[in-house]
Amino acid sequence: MEFRVTDRPRSVWTGDALVIGLFEDKVELTGDLAQLDEKLAGTLKESIEELDFKGKAGTSAINRVGGSSPIRKIAIVGLGKAADLKLDTLRQAAGICAKLARKEKCKTLGISFPLWQNDADATAAAIVEGAELALHQDNRFKSEPEDKNAQIQEIELLGFAGSESAIVRARQITAGVILARELVAAPANYVTPITMAETAESLAAECGLELEILEQADCEKLGMGAFLGVAQASDLPPKFIHMTYKPAGTPRRKLAIVGKGLTFDSGGLNIKGAGSGIEMMKVDMGGAAATFGAAKAIGHIKPDVEVHFISAVTENMISGRAMHPGDILTASNGKTIEINNTDAEGRLTLADALVFADKLGLDAIVDLATLTGACVIALGEDIAGLWSPEDSVAAELIAASELAGEKFWRMPMEEKYFEGLKALHADMKNTGPRPGGSITAALFLRQFVKDTGWAHLDIAGPVWTDKENGYNGPGATGFGVRTLVHWALSNA
Ligand code: BES
Ligand code: MN
Ligand code: ZN
Repeated sequence: MEFRVTDRPRSVWTGDALVIGLFEDKVELTGDLAQLDEKLAGTLKESIEELDFKGKAGTSAINRVGGSSPIRKIAIVGLGKAADLKLDTLRQAAGICAKLARKEKCKTLGISFPLWQNDADATAAAIVEGAELALHQDNRFKSEPEDKNAQIQEIELLGFAGSESAIVRARQITAGVILARELVAAPANYVTPITMAETAESLAAECGLELEILEQADCEKLGMGAFLGVAQASDLPPKFIHMTYKPAGTPRRKLAIVGKGLTFDSGGLNIKGAGSGIEMMKVDMGGAAATFGAAKAIGHIKPDVEVHFISAVTENMISGRAMHPGDILTASNGKTIEINNTDAEGRLTLADALVFADKLGLDAIVDLATLTGACVIALGEDIAGLWSPEDSVAAELIAASELAGEKFWRMPMEEKYFEGLKALHADMKNTGPRPGGSITAALFLRQFVKDTGWAHLDIAGPVWTDKENGYNGPGATGFGVRTLVHWALSNA
């Protein structure tokens, strides 16, 4: 698919389908829209009246244009109230229209949307992201792709001549999101620690990243007892993956992104039971997937900031070698952990990954993880949790997430709850009481970062969606990539 820009007015645009974005408080056919409607023999007016179209965000209508019109279909999409316009409303609207146009077998699509905050580049980027993410289909595991004829070939953005480079960047970001989606969507018999290491190798080659892969013996030498404790029941070798993007000049700041990389989480000997969603636990490398997606995007964008991409990748399995509930593990910072639940494995792998990142002498570390069901209970499936002891890091991430159109809610680092992790014989247990389970998980991770600004993102909810909404779903969302890229860019 191609994106193009044009300053050709919408009243003279030609192609299969033209989409007009309309605000809720301004569904009127005045000025050039009146002209256009006349050309279309009143089809625009008909669409609005027949469907009682009010311009509410997320609503849309598409109609055939009769006669010898230069366009085949005219679509309208609601953008909500003009005063409330958010970048993500445009992203969603572009996604809705793109899917609608594909369903109607349109090959060329023209999009005419108003500007968000007078910012043509940000608006163009949102349209491109929404359309491209909505149209992404994952047919890798189907013997025959569905609907192979109906593909949009060209999307033209009306009124955006001059935003070409914003569009290039948006596509670099969506390529990262799509990589993350495909890594998450592929099941655990396709995405393993070995294939994750292979993916890192090809990413490094594609984007000119430095790559270091620590094998089990290397991790043993570094004393990564927490990570290796989780890995020890798997028949597959663990892989500790570290990619680095270094800009040409001297970077002003150095960052790390650390992703939880469980290619499958059975729960271990505290095995997940019926109704636990165990068959969905291929998503448990969603943090690593977002880390890889961000690496791909940042590797192509090449901002002036150094970024380390880290994941301790393994599976949480059962076997005669599995860690026993009650075992005491020693992490690479010397802290000891009593495993009172083998299903709280993500924090163990992250512990050693965070110690590793902390030793690199960076300005900030962000980890992201499908860490707790408790976070999903707290915030639902659309919102990720954000924990950080530093207001500045939290504020940077919230600002980035707003540009990205990904929702986060800052959660408390309630130190007192650490009491719930007190152990009789070790420095801490790996799980506390059920109430506040996502908070104790964050407090646990905190024990492994000493010298660096840090934030933790729990993405267990938004990593996947069963519903279709806007440019996401059903399926893996690639959640986190866009926020991470904007965060890195804001540090360049
Ligand atoms: N991978 C799960 C968390 C998860 C839940 C991810 C839902 C995606 C969707 C994690 O390893 C886990 O099992 N957490 C336990 C922690 C508990 C044992 C303290 C949980 O949330 O139940
Ligand atoms: Mn688990
Ligand atoms: Zn897990």
